[in-house]
Amino acid sequence: MSAAGLLHPEGPGSLVGDRAVVTGAARGIGAQIAIELATAGAHVTAFDVREPADTIASIRGAGGSADGAVVDVTDFSAVQKAMGDAGSDGARLDILVTCAAIYGNTTSITDLSESEVDAVLGVNVKGTMWCMKAALPLLRAHGGRVVCIGSVAGKVGGVLAGPHYVASKGAVHAMVKWLAKTEAENGIHANGIAPGVVDTEMIVGQGYVPEYCPLGRLAEPQEIARAAAFLASPAASYLTGTIVDVNGGYSMA
Ligand SMILES: NC(=O)c1ccc[n+]([C@@H]2O[C@H](COP(=O)([O-])OP(=O)(O)OC[C@H]3O[C@@H](n4cnc5c(N)ncnc54)[C@H](O)[C@@H]3O)[C@@H](O)[C@H]2O)c1
Repeated sequence: MSAAGLLHPEGPGSLVGDRAVVTGAARGIGAQIAIELATAGAHVTAFDVREPADTIASIRGAGGSADGAVVDVTDFSAVQKAMGDAGSDGARLDILVTCAAIYGNTTSITDLSESEVDAVLGVNVKGTMWCMKAALPLLRAHGGRVVCIGSVAGKVGGVLAGPHYVASKGAVHAMVKWLAKTEAENGIHANGIAPGVVDTEMIVGQGYVPEYCPLGRLAEPQEIARAAAFLASPAASYLTGTIVDVNGGYSMA
């Protein structure tokens, strides 16, 4: 995790004055997205089922503005309360980034249990939906931006991932499109990112090799975070309903 300070406080990529919620922000890609949004000038509230203290400290240490909440995205009342708190300063929320997800413990359908399916779909699909539901009343007040982290797995059937994870990420992409269609009239833009394989704790021990894609290496979290900061900014003013591939060329469809 790295925060380089306020690098671009002006221009179409600026998020100065914006308030953002990033879920799954205690580590990995979500932490880096929180840092990237704060670097562009947003106040960031980091949501995670883990304590997001390191992310908050990293942002504040670089001169940015952040706070956080320990919240399980599968619990709607907890999400709604935390979202209300995040938007409470002037009842304003401009940006929602949904990043919280789990990969599951198996990639084999033979070994798949009902509890494992429920857990993965619960966090990745229901959790994303609950965050959208809780954030929308706040986002509508100013015409907000939503960025959902999907996966190449949801587009091409997975690199190595299991059926429940693949299905959950396809559902995230579908929800992005639903949101973009139904909320455009309220000034809300919704886009997704489909990362390839990113060097985080989620994929440790899963057997991914750098050669999986033409660029010949895994992505760094910051390479996903930069795309998220762009999609969350006014610079992406004519983009909505898209799923942006950030996958080192693994899938070019
Ligand atoms: N790492 C990859 O190769 C890769 C590839 C494609 C997509 N993604 C997606 O990127 C996103 C971030 O993944 P990552 O690699 O940083 O994983 P990670 O496991 O490092 O981070 C996921 C974060 O989500 C949090 N989380 C899990 N369940 C939660 C819950 N119920 N409520 C709130 N927070 C919860 C975790 O505590 C963790 O901080 C995920 O949506 C993942 O599916 C990752």
